[in-house]
Amino acid sequence: MASRYFLLSAGLLALVFTAALASDSSPLQDFCVADASSQVVVNGLACKDPKTVQANDFSASGLHMAGNTSNPVGSKVTPLTAAQIPGLNTLGISLARIDYAPSGINPPHTHPRASEILLVLKGSLEVGFVTSSPDNRQITKVLQKGDVFVFPVGLIHYQKNVGNGNAIAIAALSSQNPGVITIANAVFGSKPDIASDILVKAFQVDKNVITNVQSKF
Ligand SMILES: *[C@@H]1O[C@H](CO)[C@@H](O)[C@H](O)[C@H]1NC(C)=O
Repeated sequence: MASRYFLLSAGLLALVFTAALASDSSPLQDFCVADASSQVVVNGLACKDPKTVQANDFSASGLHMAGNTSNPVGSKVTPLTAAQIPGLNTLGISLARIDYAPSGINPPHTHPRASEILLVLKGSLEVGFVTSSPDNRQITKVLQKGDVFVFPVGLIHYQKNVGNGNAIAIAALSSQNPGVITIANAVFGSKPDIASDILVKAFQVDKNVITNVQSKF
């Protein structure tokens, strides 16, 4: 009986512990403004002396400015993470502005550490994400100005501007350092390259196709 009770308790504890680790850890102080000069390597960034913290540590400017979308994908992400706002360190949230040229895409990518909620401020976006294997179901929708859409943590997702003019979106993310893995760049543009025979089998195409795609990243 006692051991069954112990197992149950241990199981519950494990569940609680897992839930607590499912997002960035809760801060143990009001704030831990990142000290960019610290050499200490921790899970996050070392804290500045709270007495030296200023309003600007919690602030950023310029998000009213359009990103430069003159690039092959026709979009630009302007992130505001703990790297840009030191005061975000340990708080588990961040923000990004995304600009899209007509027909521009934010290519398929994933955030290893964050779910995302995207708000369309201007234009019209086709958005989607793909569920895990083996289903790999694509969940997709066309959004208009004022619409929001959620991309669950870790899942591959994308946006495409399907309106006539430029489009703008704001994304909020559940990590101060969400990370991004852009699928094409990571798979075909790694340094050094993933061996082409591996990609030939993975994608079931000829080697010249792989070499051609690799040459673009
Ligand atoms: C936008 O980026 C392109 C390509 O890098 C560059 O040629 C152009 O000068 C940039 N435009 C502005 C306004 O910065």
